[in-house]
Amino acid sequence: MEGDFTFLNEIETYCQEHSDPESPLLHEIAKYTWTTQAYPHMISSYLQGRLLSFISRIHKPGCILEIGPFTGYSTLCLAEGLQPEGVLVTIEKNLELEEKLNEVFSKSAYSKQIKLLMGDALQIIPRLQLSPDLIFIDADKEEYPQYLEICLPMMKQGSLLIADNVLWGEKVVHDTSKLDKETKGIIQFNEEMAKKTELSVLMLPLRDGITLAIKK
Ligand SMILES: C[S@@+](CC[C@H](N)C(=O)[O-])C[C@H]1O[C@@H](n2cnc3c(N)ncnc32)[C@H](O)[C@@H]1O
Repeated sequence: MEGDFTFLNEIETYCQEHSDPESPLLHEIAKYTWTTQAYPHMISSYLQGRLLSFISRIHKPGCILEIGPFTGYSTLCLAEGLQPEGVLVTIEKNLELEEKLNEVFSKSAYSKQIKLLMGDALQIIPRLQLSPDLIFIDADKEEYPQYLEICLPMMKQGSLLIADNVLWGEKVVHDTSKLDKETKGIIQFNEEMAKKTELSVLMLPLRDGITLAIKK
């Protein structure tokens, strides 16, 4: 299939063929990522991207905070639901991605709404005066519990938190004997999320697992 840069199973392909198309710019980003990046699988899949867009368009956030845009695919999917005056702040620590991110954001319809901050999200977020309606966590897996700790106080009633890779290649259920630091981080994050009484939490087995949570 044209545009199939990943290895989809039959069901995912069927779902993709019966869902909205991605924009030409998203298609270009996916192609660029799969043909140039050392770890292209880090990019959101087509269906995941459409889910992020769908959630964002239902929620209509005025402010989005994203941790870990990589090549900007998820950023532009989330931006599809931004209010006309809304802002999306995205934080990326890999300085090699800055030029490409600026290029793709400037080509998008959301160029004036996206603020790219380069650096470590754990250092940057505590200095931000933000009240995000939607937070997307998709960066270092061992740091997930720390992202939760700094993001939770920023959430108001009705704010959404979305976290990617919460199944971490199924290691959260299969490989519990010798845990690496990333799996430990994800397991701790999942356990803490499930215990947060101020959140309503839904974990979905889409691709590598995605958790949706809303502040009650
Ligand atoms: C899995 S990729 C993100 C994929 C992207 N969200 C998407 O869906 O296409 C993770 C990204 O997070 C960045 N990252 C990791 N730790 C970070 C941190 N502490 N602060 C900011 N960015 C971080 C990495 O450099 C990488 O580009």
